Amino acid sequence: MSFGIADAVAALRRGEAIGLPTETVYGLAADASRPEAVRRIFELKGRPADHPLIVHIAGASRLDAWATDIPAAARTLASAFWPGPLTLILRKQAHVPDEVTGGQATVGLRCPAHPIALDVLRAFGGGLAAPSANRFGRISPTTAAHVREEFGDAVPVVLNGGECTIGIESTILDLSSDTPRILRPGMISRAQIEAVIGPVADGVAGDSPRASGTLEAHYAPRTPLLLLPRPALLDEARQQSAFGKRIAVLALDTLPDGLDGLALPAAADAYAHGLYAALRTLDARGVNLLLAERPPEDGAWLAVHDRLRRSAAGAGAGDDAP
Ligand code: TXA
Ligand code: MG
Repeated sequence: MSFGIADAVAALRRGEAIGLPTETVYGLAADASRPEAVRRIFELKGRPADHPLIVHIAGASRLDAWATDIPAAARTLASAFWPGPLTLILRKQAHVPDEVTGGQATVGLRCPAHPIALDVLRAFGGGLAAPSANRFGRISPTTAAHVREEFGDAVPVVLNGGECTIGIESTILDLSSDTPRILRPGMISRAQIEAVIGPVADGVAGDSPRASGTLEAHYAPRTPLLLLPRPALLDEARQQSAFGKRIAVLALDTLPDGLDGLALPAAADAYAHGLYAALRTLDARGVNLLLAERPPEDGAWLAVHDRLRRSAAGAGAGDDAP
């Protein structure tokens, strides 16, 4: 069944969660101002209730409706990168429900660069709390069909916006304390942010807020996954095959001769675009082991490395793992 903007808005007004395309990954979206609608997201995802959600808004003009004590850098970044894959963590307005913020004093805000998401946000009028539309810890969805795979009929309205152009989650920048800090790398790089607002710190500080995208095991296939440079990958594939194990490979550029699997382009943006769909496809093969070729070390690949590392850390935890 195919749904339009009006169906989505009607479902949101009923307090339901919907599947919403964005340029990064599909979101599981609900009315961010209604605690019971937000609780439904946690229930569907099986996500711990203290993990905060990103509130999606129609544009920078909505910043003041959700955040307070907004530093100038936030407005500068919003005008440079919104709509786009950058989430800003700011001090929250008092009305923002604890269900959205995990009880913290901050709220994550982003304006997505997808025409359908923007149409829904404008027609709905309010903010939409939306984590990635996958069950907790699993691979994020980049097509409407992936959202169906995750939730089936439990999420009746899924808008089909095609394949997500970016393919991995937004960069998260914490602007709630004196030093701006990247909590989750994404395709908007630290260098791009620094070009606009100056020096930015990396990584989660000891006292900084929880971010589930920063959990070590995340974005994970059910099949065990090893991340190796090509020569080591070829050795591992030979050895495992000799033990009778079935292997699938996620290669860079070209699939090595004689191995089963997929190749993704050796350019970071094209690789990111295809990564989660490739992991889903390979996971569905039902092999014993996935071997992913380690991408180059340069800065353009930082966010891809982050997702691959977390996928490998969480892989094989599924109940149907071999
Ligand atoms: O690209 C994206 O950001 C996608 C699309 C749907 O917009 N959303 C997404 O949501 O990745 P989710 O829930 O899977 O990841 C949101 C991340 C989590 O790691 C969460 O903990 C963090 O944002 N986050 C949200 N609010 C926060 C806050 N107040 N402080 C720290 N981290 C926060
Ligand atoms: Mg997620």
